Amino acid sequence: MTEWMSIVVVVNPGDVDLVSGLVWDLGVSGIEEQPLPDGAVELRIGCERTIAQQALEVLAGRWAPTAEPVAADEGLDAWRDHAQVWRIGSIVIVPPWLETPSDVAESDLVLAIDPGHAFGSASHETTRMCLEAVVELVTPGCAVADIGCGSGVLAIAAARRGATTVVATDIAADAIVATLDNALTNNVADLVEVSTATIDELESTRFDVVFANIGAATLSSMAAALVQVTKPEGVLVLSGLLGEQVETVIESFEQTGALRTEVRADGEWRTVLMKRSR
Ligand SMILES: C[S@@+](CC[C@H](N)C(=O)[O-])C[C@H]1O[C@@H](n2cnc3c(N)ncnc32)[C@H](O)[C@@H]1O
Repeated sequence: MTEWMSIVVVVNPGDVDLVSGLVWDLGVSGIEEQPLPDGAVELRIGCERTIAQQALEVLAGRWAPTAEPVAADEGLDAWRDHAQVWRIGSIVIVPPWLETPSDVAESDLVLAIDPGHAFGSASHETTRMCLEAVVELVTPGCAVADIGCGSGVLAIAAARRGATTVVATDIAADAIVATLDNALTNNVADLVEVSTATIDELESTRFDVVFANIGAATLSSMAAALVQVTKPEGVLVLSGLLGEQVETVIESFEQTGALRTEVRADGEWRTVLMKRSR
């Protein structure tokens, strides 16, 4: 049986996104934020025991995390009480247990997304920047990959915008479960191919748009394979980056045949758009 842990760490409000990004990259299953009377923020991070060990190592240099065991799934779902609807241009992400807002227009794309224990409720800047790119780049008939799909929100948005080939992959079992469930709820289960395939296993397929909201180190290590699965003139949307990580990641992609087109910012987070050159 899976052993769950809760990591508790108190951080300055300015460090919340940084800490969340660091531990989401490790594959934690839920983060609950609790403002404290002194202005600091307590983060309770739910994860499996093996991930808890890595998270403690990552955080311990700069913060003072503690870990405690959690009975069954208790505590991993507390964030649901604070979930909200997110609008990103014409895309509206609604947690299925909340009402669809009354101002939704017929032209809006409303998606019911329950991330379960995966990342991708749209509460994070990186997801929202990727969804903006979905609106701009995904046209009917195109082929889209979502590498590190989490809840499947990007793949599902792409499918609902008319992409006819959509591949969603992740290494986390929780992400596969959430993406399959969400694809079903949003009527695109027959379109979205969900799997734990590694990027190397996809190499014979070519995509018009490749999304990878996955963190700097993983992106750099996958650069060649991500470029390889992108069609010539196709676009790579690389996210999960902090400002200081952008140039290193761009360099790894430039070395493998991609050209920088744009760097977008939301708070301290960055999304890089690149084009495969050949
Ligand atoms: C920040 S979340 C992004 C989720 C979603 N695409 C979004 O934009 O909200 C990153 C996801 O990448 C997955 N991941 C981490 N390393 C991976 C790898 N090497 N291959 C595939 N997925 C990976 C994690 O399990 C996690 O679900």
